[in-house]
Amino acid sequence: MMINAQTSPGVPLFLSDNHAMYRLTADATYLLLPIEEKEENANVNLVVSNETAQTFNVKLAVDHIDYFVPLDISRYKGKQVLLDIGFNANRRTTGDIKDYSCWKELKTASTFDTANREKFRPQYHHTPDWGWMNDPNGLFYKDGVYHLYFQHNPYGSQWENMSWGHSTSRDLIHWEHQPEAIMPDALGTIFSGCCVVDKNNTAGFGANSVIAIYTSAGRSQTQSLAYSTDDGRTFTKYDRNPIITSNVPDFRDPHVFWNEDTKQWNLILAAGQEMNIYTSDNLKDWTYASSFGHGYGNHDGVWECPDLVKLPVRGTNEYKWVLICNINPGGPFGGNATQYFVGQFDGHKFTCESKPEVTKWMDYGKDHYAAITFDNAPEGRNLLLGWMSNWQYANNVPTKQYRSANTLPRDMYLFNDGGETYVGVEPAKELLALRDRAVVKASFTLGSKTFKQLFKNPTGAYEIVADIAPATGSKLGLVLSNSKGEKVTMTYNTADKTFSMDRAKSGDTTFNEAFPAMTVAPVKGGGIKRLRIFVDNSSIEVFEADGRMAMTNLVFPAEPYNTLTLTSDGRCKVNSFTVYSIKK
Ligand code: FRU
Repeated sequence: MMINAQTSPGVPLFLSDNHAMYRLTADATYLLLPIEEKEENANVNLVVSNETAQTFNVKLAVDHIDYFVPLDISRYKGKQVLLDIGFNANRRTTGDIKDYSCWKELKTASTFDTANREKFRPQYHHTPDWGWMNDPNGLFYKDGVYHLYFQHNPYGSQWENMSWGHSTSRDLIHWEHQPEAIMPDALGTIFSGCCVVDKNNTAGFGANSVIAIYTSAGRSQTQSLAYSTDDGRTFTKYDRNPIITSNVPDFRDPHVFWNEDTKQWNLILAAGQEMNIYTSDNLKDWTYASSFGHGYGNHDGVWECPDLVKLPVRGTNEYKWVLICNINPGGPFGGNATQYFVGQFDGHKFTCESKPEVTKWMDYGKDHYAAITFDNAPEGRNLLLGWMSNWQYANNVPTKQYRSANTLPRDMYLFNDGGETYVGVEPAKELLALRDRAVVKASFTLGSKTFKQLFKNPTGAYEIVADIAPATGSKLGLVLSNSKGEKVTMTYNTADKTFSMDRAKSGDTTFNEAFPAMTVAPVKGGGIKRLRIFVDNSSIEVFEADGRMAMTNLVFPAEPYNTLTLTSDGRCKVNSFTVYSIKK
């Protein structure tokens, strides 16, 4: 419902086949722009008093309207606003510019309706209210509140116009949407980056100010700084941006942290297929220290979105450093994935302790990317959050009002296995509070070839917890299915110590040929005794309960999976099997 909507509030002027202007008096909060996704982008200059107030790209509707996006014109109240619109000469639709459907459907309104219209929107994962989202950015915690910024297109549900959207939460699960935090400027659109809480006023913007450092994606990729003195609600851009430059073309995604060992700030960013490390005392002036990556791990794509964290090795008194390296493409099942390196860091140089050819992945699904940690997290936690999609098909998944969700938050630690040290990713403890009724509670033993059908639960959001003791060498199958015959087949193979998930028949898989897939994870650290499987309308995240195996995959079933079938080719004791519905 659009309150006080006024259709065709202005007058279009047609100057050529590719150029139009639209003039109106700004007397409402929003101008609602009609979008048609199959169109090419039109470039819009928002002109106020003969100056460009804003410029952005938007797929203005030509034939039909997929949805509307809100352009906030509230700050120009009473003024004349001119949209100077250049249509792309290569757009698919031919026909007279005067007949484009956008002219009749432009509306002003006092509100923008963000009520959910999507059946695939997750219930307990973060999503943007509207528009496209990719990487999480600037994650930090302060005074009881977690802040999540994200790569956002406020003017469409496909990648464009990168800005920092903003959401806040007290429990990492329930998120409240906040106004857009950082918008593009003359230096470029706002790509990925980080926030830190400057407790001791090292940057000079005030004690406890929040400092954002991000990539300005302009003619080159450079790093810029913005500061906030109202706990991350609004940011002021530093007047001496950019603060770090380079002639490397892919030069982005800075991540900053306070290094307690050396009492300095460190910054790590992606530079081509390496990670550059810098030091600073004031967050503004950075000194290059070293690069890591040449010859190490997977290099089948661009290195992006790094992080560097010191983690405890469980069961020892040791700490080691982990360098997180998101890579696209090059992931084990195509497209993007999160690899990491374990080693030591002296404040200047990261040294990997494994052989160069060793590759370690943090999650063995297809939909875990751009994962980074929260700054200043409470109780010394090392909290990780990722983007739950894959660049292979993220722009085509079957949603419209929004596109993409975040993964569940995970606590990171290290564990030793077979002479190597690996990252464990435990589902954050806040998820336990989401458990509602146990819709199934059972214990049983599966014999060879027998199966057990469990749970009829109409909703698409639940957690399955299974304590299992499969016979050595046996295979345990778990099939989630619905009445349409759509299914996801998971197999724990104790012989080759793998866990796999096949989503080839999981529902709508037709939107991109890279979507149907089978993903396979090695099972480390003595096998799986407890499985936790989080299902949320369009995603499945499987964890060995301590996080020594994680697999995140999207699915788009026509109706929720409401049946789980367990099979075993050997004896498998299921000591306890519970399905929890999820609290609203
Ligand atoms: C990773 C990434 C980053 C970049 C951002 C742009 O998904 O490509 O490297 O900063 O997305 O949206």
